Amino acid sequence: MMDTKLLPATPEAIREAAARIRSGELVAFPTETVYGLGANALNPQAVAAIFTAKGRPATNPLIVHVLDAESARPLVTTWPLQAQRLAERFWPGPLTLVLPKSEAVPDEVTGGGTTVGLRAPSHPVARALLEAAEVPIAAPSANRSNHVSPTTAQHVWDDLKGQIALILDGGPTPGGLESTVLSLAEAPPRILRLGLITPAAIEQVIGPVRLPPLKAAREEKQQNAPLPSPGMLSRHYAPKVPLEIGEDTALRVQELVAQGERVGWLTLQPRELDSRNGLVLEMPASAEAYARRLYAALRELEAAEVTRIVVDAPPQTQEWLAIWDRLRRAAASG
Ligand code: TXA
Ligand code: MG
Repeated sequence: MMDTKLLPATPEAIREAAARIRSGELVAFPTETVYGLGANALNPQAVAAIFTAKGRPATNPLIVHVLDAESARPLVTTWPLQAQRLAERFWPGPLTLVLPKSEAVPDEVTGGGTTVGLRAPSHPVARALLEAAEVPIAAPSANRSNHVSPTTAQHVWDDLKGQIALILDGGPTPGGLESTVLSLAEAPPRILRLGLITPAAIEQVIGPVRLPPLKAAREEKQQNAPLPSPGMLSRHYAPKVPLEIGEDTALRVQELVAQGERVGWLTLQPRELDSRNGLVLEMPASAEAYARRLYAALRELEAAEVTRIVVDAPPQTQEWLAIWDRLRRAAASG
């Protein structure tokens, strides 16, 4: 265990964070999606420490954060026109591009794989940190492995205190869901993880892309091979409590209560539940606000010690795709 500092993200704290990154320590920081757990991407020991702190399997590759396309170039062997166009349209922002890695990127970052995921975050704290550190920063979401991603500094504290040097508190993250991960290392390009940037928005820039398989490769039991993308493991976003999605949730909640369960209910309309039987959290009606709220809501339900989570099925439109993806993963059993 080590002392973990939690500091408001002032210019001074960001300078301290950058110095710690440069000296091989781990720092959690806000991005526009979720909080990341950062290390100097060019320092294999520092990168290895990320896996230890998170309890993450070393075969799961990390996203490397850079300021812009120019600082991405030395980390890859090719920078195709598609990458250039996507970076011009979506960077800085929540799009991760997977490309063949150059020798500058340690194997620790990529889980032994030959490709690297790169993204330029738009959050001002993340950008100030990258500028001050002057190195690319490898950062997965700053949660314990298999827990939901953190959208506040408090979430990071709850998961990683004692494991990391410093948490920069930049307030709640505006996006709330992780970046879209797109592989340009294959043709046609393939979305490996749905995220805040929709497939339709990407297709407007580079034409047709393949979508992730609906039934995620959760049967993937080979632990040794580098995973295509751990976002494809169904349980990756799991809360600690069994979760189900339904249309007629009122009936289902009644049933669970009758069985003695304590129910956490994520609703899309006002609902009533005796506080002895659980907790209702009414969710925002827009996809954007729902995404921003989702992970915090799941953590609140865990903290309220519910034994089951029931979720009102959201609308079936494109903008809800990433939310559906995370809910389905959270609901997948085993
Ligand atoms: O929004 C985000 O992407 C956040 C913030 C901190 O940037 N980061 C994040 O990192 O969600 P992480 O490690 O929790 O998820 C990274 C995802 C995983 O699904 C991983 O498999 C995929 O990106 N990924 C990273 N590098 C890859 C690669 N070389 N090939 C395939 N997938 C890769
Ligand atoms: Mg993660």
